[in-house]
Amino acid sequence: MQFFIDTANLSEIKEANDMGILDGVTTNPSLMAKEGITGKENILAHYVAICNIVDGPVSAEVIATDFEGMVREGEQLAALHKNIVVKIPMIPEGIKAIKYFSGKGIRTNCTLIFSAGQALLAAKAGATYISPFLGRLDDVSTDGIALIEQIRTIYDNYLFDTEILAASIRHPMHIIHCAEIGADVMTGPLSAIKALAKHPLTDLGLQQFLADHAKGNQ
Ligand code: G3P
Repeated sequence: MQFFIDTANLSEIKEANDMGILDGVTTNPSLMAKEGITGKENILAHYVAICNIVDGPVSAEVIATDFEGMVREGEQLAALHKNIVVKIPMIPEGIKAIKYFSGKGIRTNCTLIFSAGQALLAAKAGATYISPFLGRLDDVSTDGIALIEQIRTIYDNYLFDTEILAASIRHPMHIIHCAEIGADVMTGPLSAIKALAKHPLTDLGLQQFLADHAKGNQ
């Protein structure tokens, strides 16, 4: 399972990368705005800064919602750095844009996936990744993990190459459930990634080991 971090915060990206377990980064316009990155030139420069930290796919989202605009923006984003994956929303014009980029060999991440039908369409258009938002489904009393399981079955039935990138991860159990059902990638906040390492028995055990060592080496 690949681990992506879902943030535009450079110090969090560096911290996860330094752990040695980071495979890529996802961003979106909200995450960029949260870091105060505004204006086209600054936004493009920020994507390059992220690509210079992580040697793996970095999703950069288009703002346009029409086919021509998505193609224009996506080509500009893809030209920034070899790591860039163009993130396209799941709308009819977006499906056309994914098909276009697929023909050009430009990788795409189809975002805002909330149903199996959307995932099927994106795969048929040749998306490299699809991003089902499991936390946001859970927020409205719908089983996000069940959706990922359903998409896994569909993709395996037809041997689609499109990778399931589980997004909107909120906590470590989301990551574990995604791993159990075979999501290809998960993207989550640094807090959820670091929480995987925590166990009170690990902390207690280490405390005891160090105390016993100290007693024997006074
Ligand atoms: O990558 C999509 C993700 O950022 C959405 O997460 O927590 O805003 O639902 P969230």
